[in-house]
Amino acid sequence: MCYECGSATRRSFARFLAAGAGLTVLAACTPAAPPAAPASSAAPSAAPPSPAATTTPDVATVGQSPEAQSPTPSPSTTLARQFSLDDPASQWVIVNKHRPLAPADYAPADLVRPAVAISASGEAALLNSTTAAAAEAMFAAAARDGVAMVLASGYRSYSTQVTTYNGYVAARGQADADTASARPGHSEHQTGWAFDIGDGGGACSFEPCFADQPAATWAKANAYRYGFVVRYPWMLHPITGYYYEPWHLRFVGVEAATDMAKRGIGTLEEYFGLEAAPAYP
Ligand code: DAL
Ligand code: ZN
Repeated sequence: MCYECGSATRRSFARFLAAGAGLTVLAACTPAAPPAAPASSAAPSAAPPSPAATTTPDVATVGQSPEAQSPTPSPSTTLARQFSLDDPASQWVIVNKHRPLAPADYAPADLVRPAVAISASGEAALLNSTTAAAAEAMFAAAARDGVAMVLASGYRSYSTQVTTYNGYVAARGQADADTASARPGHSEHQTGWAFDIGDGGGACSFEPCFADQPAATWAKANAYRYGFVVRYPWMLHPITGYYYEPWHLRFVGVEAATDMAKRGIGTLEEYFGLEAAPAYP
């Protein structure tokens, strides 16, 4: 699937998800279509030709002076390792294609429904309690700035991720699915530390053009103030393993998110000095 395929194909995929797996799963998915990955590889290796490319900076350069936008960001030397990178209950847990959740069927003990506008249903309306509180503060700030923001997909259990991922594979093949959907046990959504946003009107939901919607541009510029990072930035898929997801926010705490923004570090892998995870081992 490719951007050039147009919205009809994406709508077809959304209909497939809605019909086959329910609205919760639709909300929990990221049906935006990156270009097809090379058939020989499960990892994205080409730059996705997103419409956002002409208007969106490469990395999370928000609120930064030019000198702070280091082209070769180094691992964090500013903050001490305050939290575990391995414990799924830690706000610094790193989950990627090289770092599965342990245990694979982990479920947060403190899932709550945040007091924000929510377009998701069921478990997808939940976040862990820390992330929920931060989301409430961020959504309120966005609203004060006149920006509509909704929680489009929050927590996903292991079993829901099985359904979600299998839907992608059935629709797009495994290589392409792996550029957009985490395999079960490899999704940040399962930790409760991550969620996807929409604008409440459905404009460009989970599509590349969401990058240019007010909710996304506001989040890119301000989310760090509330402890969030855009986890899968534009053009950093060789590190993260996923194409640009301007809707996917991950809580790491105000201190770390602000440090990353000020230093121009786009990925958690770089920030914590971890290896890139473009593909599954
Ligand atoms: N779309 C992200 C990578 C997930 O499935 O967790
Ligand atoms: Zn997401």
